[in-house]
Amino acid sequence: MSQKHLVDAPDDGGDTLTSINDNGFLIPNFPDGQGIEGVRSVRIRDDDVLICTYPKSGTHWVWEITRELLTGEITHDDVTMSQTFMEMGSEERYANLPSPRILNSHLRMKHLPDDVLNKKIKVITVLRNPKDMAVSYYNFSKTIPFAKYKGEWTNFLRPLFQGKFMYESWMDYVLDWELVKKTNPDQPVLTLFYEDIKQDQMREMRKICEFLGVERTDDFLSKVCDNTTIAAMRTHKNKGHDASSVFRKGGVGDWKNWFTVAQNEWFDQFYQEKMADCPLQFKYTL
Ligand code: A3P
Repeated sequence: MSQKHLVDAPDDGGDTLTSINDNGFLIPNFPDGQGIEGVRSVRIRDDDVLICTYPKSGTHWVWEITRELLTGEITHDDVTMSQTFMEMGSEERYANLPSPRILNSHLRMKHLPDDVLNKKIKVITVLRNPKDMAVSYYNFSKTIPFAKYKGEWTNFLRPLFQGKFMYESWMDYVLDWELVKKTNPDQPVLTLFYEDIKQDQMREMRKICEFLGVERTDDFLSKVCDNTTIAAMRTHKNKGHDASSVFRKGGVGDWKNWFTVAQNEWFDQFYQEKMADCPLQFKYTL
């Protein structure tokens, strides 16, 4: 039996952020969401590519880059990752898309269809430094009606990292993926970092091409760079709510404009406690 109920989680000032507890895991209360059970039963094709991210880590950006690299076409349409965002709506939205599809999700591996592992489909994970992610998450939360959040930044950071909000703990997400890679060494997984793409998009796109098994000229790659700047994406992907809130600043280091000294100290300490055994290194400035 499916168990779902709304959760109004308070931040440190008592303002609440609404999520849905879906069989023990907090996800957004999407108006047409198919829930974890719906996602678990999605029919996976052998050649699907899956982009897995914690929210606000560059999903839209990498989805678009991947689409252009995979199809070999530069597009200026308003299609975004929302259409293939697995838990956001029904499978019908992407069931009839031509192969290869690029699906995406913020869920953990255990919530995804078994065929992701059984069929060994290609997975791209994108990680972003948690301080910039947190700032982005805060700003985004205030724009999504179904989160109903109106709180202050000063009260947001701690409950976010304690896993009280949608998709729970960033640390657990990152550690979970490290474990998935370790325990499934033959699963094709490419891990990218948001900051690396900002630093050298051509280099990172070559990694994506190699991973996907496609060959693209440098000329084509530089056209993809031009078409996927935040300014270009803000212009082309301007239908619906995406443009204003999703394509916010798109930089590295905005956290310095938000974190107080006390928040930074709290975060660094918390990070050490949770991530001491994690070999990943995050870049907080470029
Ligand atoms: P900021 O809020 O820090 O600006 P996601 O797609 O996972 O929801 O992530 C959204 C974050 O990625 C936002 O961060 C957004 O601005 C940034 N982003 C979106 N498109 C981008 C692009 N083309 N280049 C760089 N960053 C981009």
